Amino acid sequence: MDTGVVIVAAGSGKRMGAERNKLWLLLGGEPIWTRTVRLFTSHPEIGEVVLVVNSQDHDEILAWIHQEQLKVTVVLGGAERQDSVKNGLTALSSDCSYVLVHDAARPFVTSEQISEMIRQVRLDGASIMAVPVKDTMKVVGADGIVQSTPARESLWAVQTPQAFLVSLLKEAHEAAAEKGKTGTDDAMLVEWLGHAVSVVRGSYENIKITTPDDLWFGEEILRRRKGERA
Ligand code: CTP
Ligand code: MG
Repeated sequence: MDTGVVIVAAGSGKRMGAERNKLWLLLGGEPIWTRTVRLFTSHPEIGEVVLVVNSQDHDEILAWIHQEQLKVTVVLGGAERQDSVKNGLTALSSDCSYVLVHDAARPFVTSEQISEMIRQVRLDGASIMAVPVKDTMKVVGADGIVQSTPARESLWAVQTPQAFLVSLLKEAHEAAAEKGKTGTDDAMLVEWLGHAVSVVRGSYENIKITTPDDLWFGEEILRRRKGERA
């Protein structure tokens, strides 16, 4: 199989305000990160899973991977998310032509959405999952005064997975590192190379667990999904 995934889990979860990395918090009785990892290890079109972790979590995560007998390569992350993705990319084997990058903090992406990203990246080499914004957005200055209101029709909130040709994403990360530039997502680095990035419509359920209120929203998503299956 020629498609791998880099799952980034090496943050510290400052905005969650928990004692340790937020990814250990439970959703439906299971740590957030194990839920996310399972989605990809069980996906029939994903050949390799690279999990990027921080040094505090490393041993415990490795132990879980062994216990579950999962085929996951564990590597250490860096100070910024961008560094973590870059480290993850180095661990992919040369069999991988395509890579999905996914936040461990997004445990609600579906198997169908993963397949859709894989289909799309084969067509255009760079693709992101996103949803149209629901609120009106304002550009606000440091003085707290509104500067402008961009047309809402053109605004999308970006999620992960983001999918790329491995060669393209590696080139984009190297170019950004050389110039000392930091992007807030991977697509931005690819955009800086002048490469087109297509958008796959995601769902509003594909939330990133960031602050405590996301946890109860997450529990609600699980409850509803369980109800649908029953
Ligand atoms: N991440 C990472 N390496 C970093 C920073 C973030 O691998 N140096 C990962 C996080 O573990 C998470 C994803 O990137 O799965 C999205 O980041 P975010 O939600 O911002 O998580 P944290 O950075 O951990 O949280 P915070 O910004 O609140 O500290
Ligand atoms: Mg962060």
